[in-house]
Amino acid sequence: MTDDLAALQHEAEHSIAAAPDLRALEAVRVALLGKAGRLTARLKALGGLPAEARREEGARLNVVKEALAAALAARRVALEGAALEARLAGERIDVTLPARPSESGVIHPISRSMDEIAALFGAMGFSVAEGPDIETDWHNFGALNIPPHHPARADHDTFYLPPETAEAPPPVLRTHTSPVQVRTMLSAPPPIHIIAMGRTYRADHDATHSPMFHQCEGLVIDRAITLGHLKGCLSDFLRAFFGLPDLPVRFRASYFPFTEPSMEVDIGWNRRTGELGRGGDWLEILGSGMVHAKVLANAGIDPREWQGFAFGMGIERITMLKHGISDLRPFFESDLRWLRHYGFSPLAPAMLHEGV
Ligand code: DAH
Repeated sequence: MTDDLAALQHEAEHSIAAAPDLRALEAVRVALLGKAGRLTARLKALGGLPAEARREEGARLNVVKEALAAALAARRVALEGAALEARLAGERIDVTLPARPSESGVIHPISRSMDEIAALFGAMGFSVAEGPDIETDWHNFGALNIPPHHPARADHDTFYLPPETAEAPPPVLRTHTSPVQVRTMLSAPPPIHIIAMGRTYRADHDATHSPMFHQCEGLVIDRAITLGHLKGCLSDFLRAFFGLPDLPVRFRASYFPFTEPSMEVDIGWNRRTGELGRGGDWLEILGSGMVHAKVLANAGIDPREWQGFAFGMGIERITMLKHGISDLRPFFESDLRWLRHYGFSPLAPAMLHEGV
């Protein structure tokens, strides 16, 4: 009997140690301790023994049962660890593998123009300023010398937002980037040399107008700034942007409430062929002028000490001219075929040393 039990324990320990995986181990457990297991059968048989023998045999059986349960548990832990190791090894990621080739995106022509504009004005010592798309009436109009009921307001087809109080003038979606002039002058003392680019909004929609479009504003405030600086700066910019060193540039007297004197800037082109640079026709490109003394005063700058010039241009317009794009609407239709055709490689950013 004793030898018998010792043999069973020995054999069971061997099977436990040899179980190759959790499933085999469970089969060994069931064969020993399951309902019809060998050890279970012997425990059940205890009932038929005389009291003395039952106590002795019961004690021995319990020792064996506990030893086997412990061996089963230890083997289970070992097998579970090995299974986890195997799974981790299978899931190992080789971070040195080269990336799979994927289709790269392209830079939208408007973004490209903004990069080029920033590169060109950056080289002339300008930095880039920003302002919010939702503006106060005062920043968008009042401070720029466009009082309520001024006819210039009617030209702008303004989108108004619900006012915060009944008395307050309603906020607007900025109709131009000119309010960034005011914000910049209020935020730090002169000298100021900035451009500000971003979205602008007017309730207008056809082949050459979109309710959302982009402008680039420029502002220079310094001592002894003259119209000559304005003309030189804008001529240099336009010739570099269009890549035409001989591009004819004309400054034509005009009117803006926030500049005095004001000038519209035209470039030479051929109206019939669309070719830039020659042809004897003139095309209006942007607005500019010497910052009005009232605007300086509204922004807390003494016009007797400081003066400067400002300009504003439509980014869609100069982008269309530069790349021969005739319709404005596809700019904002997210048609990938259009974008791939007119877009720019992200790997060849706008840089001055190659010409923009
Ligand atoms: N804000 C004007 C517009 O949207 C453009 C403009 C003209 C801006 C003259 C200027 C400027 O800064 O001096 O039509």
